[in-house]
Amino acid sequence: MTENTIKTIKVHKIIDECEGVKTFVFNMKDDHIESYVNPKPGQFVMVWVPGIDEIPMSISDCDDNGNWAVTVKKVGECTNAMYNLKIGDYIGIRGPLGNYFKVSAEKSKEIFIIGGGIGMAPLKFLSTELTKRSIKHIIIEGAKINTDLMYIEYFKESTANRSQIHYCTDDGSYGIKGVASDIFRRIIKEFSENELQNLIIYSCGPELMLFKLFQLCQEYNIEFYASLERIMRCGCGLCGLCALDPLGLLVCKDGPIFDLNTLKKVEDFGKYQRDFTGKKINI
Ligand SMILES: Cc1cc2nc3c(=O)[nH]c(=O)nc-3n(C[C@H](O)[C@H](O)[C@H](O)COP(=O)(O)OP(=O)(O)OC[C@H]3O[C@@H](n4cnc5c(N)ncnc54)[C@H](O)[C@@H]3O)c2cc1C
Ligand code: FES
Repeated sequence: MTENTIKTIKVHKIIDECEGVKTFVFNMKDDHIESYVNPKPGQFVMVWVPGIDEIPMSISDCDDNGNWAVTVKKVGECTNAMYNLKIGDYIGIRGPLGNYFKVSAEKSKEIFIIGGGIGMAPLKFLSTELTKRSIKHIIIEGAKINTDLMYIEYFKESTANRSQIHYCTDDGSYGIKGVASDIFRRIIKEFSENELQNLIIYSCGPELMLFKLFQLCQEYNIEFYASLERIMRCGCGLCGLCALDPLGLLVCKDGPIFDLNTLKKVEDFGKYQRDFTGKKINI
């Protein structure tokens, strides 16, 4: 068995996160210990819902006992089917797949985790790992409205006294009014040249928000990593649906996380993605 073999697994626990979003926990060690691979923050799985489809989902949590979690926002056929799963139902999992957020060993670095909407899912796993290693970090979470904000209670407990968290909403119904990239711009206004050089940004969320962050990081020469989303069919480098022009990088295999220097060369970034037929469409 490899990471690409589908493992059938039972839904073990379900957590309501916010409007239209649930987290599903399943145990990957119990039945498949011989092929068990520890996932890293930023990696994803292909989730097969029997009779429906197979779709990519970021791993939003993992503990030492092999309990993995994915957080699902219902947007279409397969995510709706997932949302309606019950404890004890079976799903198929392939993974962990893709690359991951590489965390600097330099403790002096100031880490920002910046996400929007369902993009917070892989960033929650990253925050948990940083907290386990006593690495301080600042979280900026954005959403359209207050009822779309995720993990508020979790972050309150897990980051208490160690890290800062800023919330923002498009309509100002919770936290600061604005999008996550605007909040980041406001925060770094106070920073000196030296402080800016010391920052690392890990981000995931709507691509236009990621693109604004990328532009800021380019302007101020800040280390930057973004996790991209593309429609995926195979999840393992075969179909080419997730290819980024003009380099031909595959989000499923070379990503989903790309650094600033790579993104500078990706002409699709912030502009185009492919639909299910492979045709390019505006983001
Ligand atoms: C690496 C990666 C990690 C992801 N992690 C998560 C996660 O943690 N939680 C989560 O809820 N979702 C995540 N997604 C997005 C998720 O895979 C899509 O929302 C899902 O495939 C939609 O399937 P559907 O059958 O419900 O929707 P469909 O009925 O197929 O489509 C509904 C709408 O969503 C759009 N869409 C479909 N697939 C994608 C996609 N891959 N990216 C962007 N838009 C899409 C369609 O164009 C359409 O407008 C991730 C995607 C990627 C590539
Ligand atoms: S999803 Fe098939 S190559 Fe990436």
